[in-house]
Amino acid sequence: MDTRQQWGVVLGVSGGTGGAVAGALARNPGLGIFGVHRGRRPEAAAEVERTVRATGAACHMHVGGAGTFEEVQVACAEILRVAGPRSVKLLAHAIADGSYGTFLGGQRALLDSRRIHRTFESMAHSFVYWAQELVACDLLAPEARLVAMTNPMVDSVVHGWGLVAAAKAALEIYVRQMGHEIGPKGHRVMLLKFGMVETQAIRVAFPPDEWARVKREISQVTPARRLCTVEEVGAFVAQLAGPVGDWFNGSTIDLTGNQTGGLLDTIFNPGNYRNSPP
Ligand SMILES: NC(=O)c1ccc[n+]([C@@H]2O[C@H](COP(=O)([O-])OP(=O)(O)OC[C@H]3O[C@@H](n4cnc5c(N)ncnc54)[C@H](OP(=O)(O)O)[C@@H]3O)[C@@H](O)[C@H]2O)c1
Repeated sequence: MDTRQQWGVVLGVSGGTGGAVAGALARNPGLGIFGVHRGRRPEAAAEVERTVRATGAACHMHVGGAGTFEEVQVACAEILRVAGPRSVKLLAHAIADGSYGTFLGGQRALLDSRRIHRTFESMAHSFVYWAQELVACDLLAPEARLVAMTNPMVDSVVHGWGLVAAAKAALEIYVRQMGHEIGPKGHRVMLLKFGMVETQAIRVAFPPDEWARVKREISQVTPARRLCTVEEVGAFVAQLAGPVGDWFNGSTIDLTGNQTGGLLDTIFNPGNYRNSPP
């Protein structure tokens, strides 16, 4: 694959997943990185930029939102200036900007219309805005990949996480529809589903001692007996930029390691899990 002059656009580049994706894309296939973040974690963004530049790849950081249509327009105008037309080989949508709470009250905060709107806007609708604007600005390179991210909670019920799960369900439909719309032009749209990985988004969702318990118990029910890492997710996304990604379109790719598949088994056969490593 000739990736000279080609770029990976990574939304949420200062985050755990986005940062790992940026590093992996820069290493192989060697894409320039156009990263987007809001500037709340400047040290993390600077570290990603160092990692990318150390590979010899170009790096441009856009500090601003990526979750509303207006923000997407501003960012795409900058991509056009920095990278030029038909330069974006892969878009990675790694924004975590959701609200936790319940729809009808209870132990967690009630989700009001502002939180519902914001979560859907930044975690689901913005993926469509990005696809629309990349097409409108003629930014997509031949055989480009548009990659969104989801988690196994979309198939389940977890108190407090219902709004994020609903946004992920919308994302699944957006991916399916857009894959059919843009597939004939040679581009691919895909949703990568992976289990819990240790990032800021996860750490703020739990008090520290609670996170230690959750991490231990999730590791115990995962067949590999450990969590997936952001580096593994990043390396897989980088593979999708190449021939591996040719035939994934409009669909969800399961990289969960079947993390939640055994949850019923933990009730039926708890002894299988209680003392299992780690
Ligand atoms: N962590 C997991 O276990 C897990 C599992 C499966 C799927 N995922 C998915 O992977 C994606 C990334 O999650 P993560 O855990 O890596 O998140 P994270 O480490 O918390 O990083 C989130 C990133 O999003 C940026 N961001 C948030 N709102 C933004 C906005 N409106 N505009 C622009 N940038 C924004 C943040 O930058 P600033 O703070 O500077 O704004 C940061 O770079 C999400 O879609 C998540 O649902 C995560």
